[in-house]
Amino acid sequence: MKKIAVFTSGGDSPGMNACIRAVVRTACHHNLEVMGIMHGYEGMIEDEFVPLNKKSVANIIQRGGTILKTARSKRFMTKEGMEQAYKNLVKHGIEGAVCIGGNGTFTGAEEFSNLYPINFIGCPGTIDNDLVGTDFTIGYDTAINTVVEAVDKIRDTAESHDRVFIVEVMGRDAGLIALRSGIAVGAEGILIPETKNDINKLFLRLEEGRKDKSSKIIMVAEGDETGGAFNVAKQISERFPNYDVRVSILGHVQRGGSPSCMERVNASRMGYAAVEALIEGKKNIMIGIINKEIAFTPFSHAIKHIEELNPHLVKMMEVLAL
Ligand code: F6P
Repeated sequence: MKKIAVFTSGGDSPGMNACIRAVVRTACHHNLEVMGIMHGYEGMIEDEFVPLNKKSVANIIQRGGTILKTARSKRFMTKEGMEQAYKNLVKHGIEGAVCIGGNGTFTGAEEFSNLYPINFIGCPGTIDNDLVGTDFTIGYDTAINTVVEAVDKIRDTAESHDRVFIVEVMGRDAGLIALRSGIAVGAEGILIPETKNDINKLFLRLEEGRKDKSSKIIMVAEGDETGGAFNVAKQISERFPNYDVRVSILGHVQRGGSPSCMERVNASRMGYAAVEALIEGKKNIMIGIINKEIAFTPFSHAIKHIEELNPHLVKMMEVLAL
């Protein structure tokens, strides 16, 4: 193998740059040429290839976002789109690629490399942490710390006004941001898509819980079946007319910012391992870290389902909160 590519795809996440840096520097170490593909699969179709070297990735380990830009490509899901992407990869002499992204990215990579002779290795880049085969995805740790910082501030004002705040966090299909940050801020309730009927349980717990609490924080994952923070606020206000309820939707602030130390180290390890895996001829696998060790998981398994929520965490949160 002489030449590889690296790209980011789907929603960006803090730590993607640290991973790109590790891919490029590991490739250079092995005397491989590296091309960056801008805007993910869209750039593969549009021929946005740029040569990268050790210097191109200097001073990016601490930066949020992705220097390669990113996109969600519908065209890559078509036969014509994949064909055009393949032509461009061949034109640039690319023999293998490292893709940094989440479910959609790995679904595309697997379909593509089943049709065309180019090996893909994935690094899990998403704030949602919704991939099987790694304890933490790149971006999750920074995102939950951003949430914790924001909700601590919300707690100050909630406490001053004796208010109930419904805080909505990201997680279209997964409640892992809500769960972990909720535990860290001492949330009185957490509503997540993985557990059904949790609003009724929350009502019961609010009725039975301590009445002398001044403020309450209810964390809601955007993908929860209640339909989001405003719906939850409406239902809570109807059930508890005495509560002074406010809503705060944290939104894309969760996707930005300088990656945490853990993020930078994990992303570096994964990018390094991805290039080594390509050199060894591996394909269609996601690199992860499980119990501190590098792990390899087939794309088909990594994307198929969300890791079971740790029931002990859910139970613990309920005991500690009210
Ligand atoms: O996949 C990560 C994520 O941040 C989800 O939590 C969220 O639902 C989605 O991306 C938002 O995507 P976009 O920025 O494209 O609207």
